[in-house]
Parts: sequence; C-alpha cells; structure tokens
Amino acid sequence: VTFIGGFFGLELPPVNPNGLASIWGVPARSSLTYANARSALAALLTSIRPNTLWLPAYICRSVAQAAEATATPVRYFAVDESLQPDTSALQSAVRPGDMVLAVDYFGRPPGCAFLDFVARRPDLVFVEDACHAADTGVTQWGRWCLRSPRKLVGVPDGGFIVPSAGISEANGSESRPVLDAYEAAFLRFEDEEECCNPRWHDANQRREATEPVSPRRMSRLTRELLERLALGPIADKRHANFRVLADMLDRYKYLPDKDPGFVPLGFPIRLRAALRDKVLTDLIAQGLFPAVHWSDLPSPAAFTTAHGLATELLTLPCDQRYEPIEMERIARVLRETLKRQ
Ligand SMILES: Cc1ncc(COP(=O)(O)O)c(C=O)c1O
Repeated sequence: VTFIGGFFGLELPPVNPNGLASIWGVPARSSLTYANARSALAALLTSIRPNTLWLPAYICRSVAQAAEATATPVRYFAVDESLQPDTSALQSAVRPGDMVLAVDYFGRPPGCAFLDFVARRPDLVFVEDACHAADTGVTQWGRWCLRSPRKLVGVPDGGFIVPSAGISEANGSESRPVLDAYEAAFLRFEDEEECCNPRWHDANQRREATEPVSPRRMSRLTRELLERLALGPIADKRHANFRVLADMLDRYKYLPDKDPGFVPLGFPIRLRAALRDKVLTDLIAQGLFPAVHWSDLPSPAAFTTAHGLATELLTLPCDQRYEPIEMERIARVLRETLKRQ
C-alpha cells in the first residue's frame, strides 16, 4: 500500500541532476551504501579477498581497521615528503592480484609516476581513496573508488565504493539504517548561535571514536542531501578560500599550488612538530578548529617520512561554509601565534 495523508515527514527541495550523488556515483541500491567508508572497503575486501592489501604508510587508522575486520593481510609502502607513493619499492614488492590503495591526499590525485605505475600494472587491483576529494580534476584512476561524504559536506554518515559492482550481494548492507550519527549533526544544526560547542563536539568525538566496521547502511537523508548539493558552488568557495590562505600563508603552505586543479579538502600547512602542537592548541583556544590528518598512523614507525609528516601537518579549514573574510581571520591569528614563538 501507498499511504496518503498523515503527518509530514521531512520535505526537501527538488533533486539537482548535477548533485554530488550523480557526480560521485552514489550506488542506486542502498544495500551497496554503508554508514562509513571503512565499512564499504571492508565489504569490497570480503568480496574480492585479495592476498595482500598494500596501504600507504601515511593513512588513517580507519582504513587499516577495514583490513583488520576482514582479516586481510596488510603491507605498507612508503610515501615521500610530498606524499607521493614510492612506486619503485612497490614495483618490486607487489604480486599479481594484490590490492593497492592510494589516497588523493587533501583532494590532490597522485602524480604521474604513480599514475604511470597504475597504467603499467593491470594485474593489480587499485583502490582510489577519494575520501578527501570532492573533485580531483582528473578521471577516476582506481579500479575502485572509495568515498566518505561527511568529510566534505554536511551529511552525518555514508561510505561507498564506485562502481558498486565490486561488492557481492552477500556483503551488502542491512536495510535498516542506524541513526547514531545524527545526534551530533542535529545538535550542531539546532544550535544556531553555536553556543553549546562542548555538547555537539563531545557527541561527535564520542561517535567518531567508536565508529565501527559494520554492515549498517548509509541513511536515506544523506543520499537525499547528496542528490541536492551541487559541486560547482562548493568547488568555487573552496578554491576562493584556498587562494586567500595561500596568499597570506605562503611560507607555511604544504601544497605547492596556489590555485590547484583539484578541489582542496583544506589548506594544509607544515610546521616543526613542537610548533604544530602549540599552534593547534592556540587556534583551538581562539575558536578556530584545524584538523590533523593524521596524528595516529597505523603503519610501522620505520616509515619515518610518513611519521614525521604526521607530527608536522595541520589542515586549516577552507570549505564552503566560509567566506574569504573568515580565511583572513585564520591567517591573521596563525601569523600572530607564530610570531609569539
Ligand atoms: C583518506 C581517508 N580514507 C578513508 C577514511 C575512512 O572513512 P570513514 O571514517 O567514513 O570510515 C578516512 C577517514 O578519516 C580518510 O581520511
């Protein structure tokens, strides 16, 4: 039966045919969407069962969590100071059929050396981790592409693999969504003046800290929002904000390009380790919340370049919520903080 009448659920404006859902290729079947990216990756691993999953030494713990949950053997490969994969080391160590995951760090696709390696090795299974990338500016380079929309836009949950055909029926998600991600999102949304920061921040931290690998599916509201959010204005804002920070913080910028061809996740800066931590504390005290991608790498400490970067990088926000005036404030506060050191 189709019900007619009764109370209104939620009503949303019409779908945008160029919304992120179509640009990112959100799987039409909700059973091929998950509450987060680690669960989508776990479903792919269980479907494909590679002998070995190769991960970059610079990676967030949740990706390693997907491997652990599926008992997939993991090996790590090195990245250099600019986060480019060490393709020559990979070249000699990988075996046909291995899965190799590489990341579009901060939204930027890997450089030519790695993309040439991808083209030369059809015997390997490449996963493009595009969780940081609204739009890399190049076509998908990985056989499979991994996405986590909540890192880029205001949706509470979601994770999927494109094309979704990589995941077998048996590894699909449950039909009932779990709405635990909604508490923090709604608390912040309803707190229009943002005066109850500890409440929603704590709720979000608690949730992120316990985010499991599971067969929970992405919520319908996330899908519906992704169908309505267009990439264009998001990309324009991020580029404009990035340029302001690049102009004002030229000395500290980590990505070389002032006007990148990809949509930036944020504006990463690189500082000496002790200074990075001091700056982070100072900015937070002034209500500015940079992100650390990532302080807690799952790779062995022997990968010294990656572990060094983990102590030195700090990502300033430059996303679509903000205007250049807010970027100027971040840059000013940061410069003043650095001057005091
Ligand atoms: C590059 C990258 N890939 C994958 C993930 C995992 O995403 P999720 O938290 O949706 O499982 C993250 C999370 O931080 C990430 O930064």
